[in-house]
Amino acid sequence: MADKIAKLSIDGSDSEIELSMYSGSEGPDVIDVRPLTGQGYFTYDPGFVSTAACESKITYIDGEKGILLHAGYPIEQLAENSSYLETCYLLLNGELPTKDQLAAFVGTVKGHTMVHEQMHHFFQGFRRDAHPMAIMVSVVGALSAFYHDSLDINDAKHREVCAFRLIAKMPTIAAMCYKYSIGMPFQYPRNDLSYAENFLHMMFGNPCEEYVPNPILARAMDRIFLLHADHEQNASTSTVRLAGSSGANPFACIAAGVATLWGPAHGGANEAVLNMLEEIGDAKNIPEFIARAKDPEDNFRLMGFGHRVYRNFDPRANVMKTTCDEVLAELGIKDDPMLEIAKQLEQIALQDEYFVKRKLYPNVDFYSGIILKAIGIPSSMFTVIFALSRTIGWISHWAEFHSEPNKIGRPRQLYTGPSKRDYVECSDR
Ligand code: SDX
Repeated sequence: MADKIAKLSIDGSDSEIELSMYSGSEGPDVIDVRPLTGQGYFTYDPGFVSTAACESKITYIDGEKGILLHAGYPIEQLAENSSYLETCYLLLNGELPTKDQLAAFVGTVKGHTMVHEQMHHFFQGFRRDAHPMAIMVSVVGALSAFYHDSLDINDAKHREVCAFRLIAKMPTIAAMCYKYSIGMPFQYPRNDLSYAENFLHMMFGNPCEEYVPNPILARAMDRIFLLHADHEQNASTSTVRLAGSSGANPFACIAAGVATLWGPAHGGANEAVLNMLEEIGDAKNIPEFIARAKDPEDNFRLMGFGHRVYRNFDPRANVMKTTCDEVLAELGIKDDPMLEIAKQLEQIALQDEYFVKRKLYPNVDFYSGIILKAIGIPSSMFTVIFALSRTIGWISHWAEFHSEPNKIGRPRQLYTGPSKRDYVECSDR
């Protein structure tokens, strides 16, 4: 039932087109443009800047106010009080779990942490210097070949099993990508450890000695997972929804999300931030890079700055900055040159008219790389960790899409190519 009506009048036409409008629980009203096709029109919105592609109950973002809610709970409160796995439960079920529900959820995740032994062979086919994201895209997609017992996407139980398998196996696969790149043996998961402790164990442990996770680093790791868990209809999540709309295997859909996240404009930005800070090298070089970022002829952009939705601060960046200070203090890292450059870069950019006018603020990726580097994780693994974290967002949106009547996504276009013309024989061209 429409909440309001929008009326569209078009030059040369006497009649108006009436379009229904709907209000959500938060955020802008939407105009239902579907009837336009029947009137011979498409809407035009490259980059989907103004398009609500679906209805969702999972995450709400207010870019002007810097608000991010997961099922209504502010990200700042979740980062402070919750855990990644509790947030996974929230994103999948729409409610925070009771103590027993959380214990059962964690227990089920722990029962799926290993990958099929034959998956180990996939890694052997890659060069040691293969980018871990290239390996991750492949191995996650290959999960499709292993789990034939839970692929009825219309069966809620099957969708739940897929969710558990992906939440549980992504850290194992991510750590395997790292271990393979450094020629070290894979570490099997340890179910006596928490999710983040187990990830650090699989990353930094080895068969020759027991690995004892640092609780401060484990907490920081868990917070990084939580801050990246979901973010509405971003590029990779929209890809997963679109792939899911064709009825594709859920593991293939998540692999499509991993591939999309890899780009430096999206999840690849955290690695690009650190590469940029290393390229700047010294605070005295900052003005040169600020000038390049502002130069329309130079395609250099200040990585970690700007956001399609946040036109104010990214609430995740604020939490990340606090975590960064905690981790560096715990590790006794004073005057980290990268952090020094980052803080000066942030201060300069936040006062520079170019950035202020375009509302370009630090985003979630600006500080995460400094934390991960301090923990000892190479920059090539940063987006792998983002993919690990975002898997719950992808699978929650995929499950939401399949939990209600749906249709295949099939955008149209504004065609500006040649009109109909007849074939010309090669001899006549
Ligand atoms: C993530 O969507 C999500 O929710 C993503 C994410 C998630 O959790 O899923 O939040 C994760 O992807 C965060 C963003 C990480 N990417 C980066 O840090 C890369 C650097 N940022 C930019 O590439 C850019 O800001 C985007 C891609 C993030 C947003 O680009 P938009 O919304 O398409 O904005 P735009 O390109 O239209 O830019 C508007 C103006 C342009 O200048 P003018 O044409 O007006 O002169 O701002 C400029 C741009 O040139 N601009 C920048 C800039 N970002 C935008 N100029 C310099 N440095 C930048 N970083």
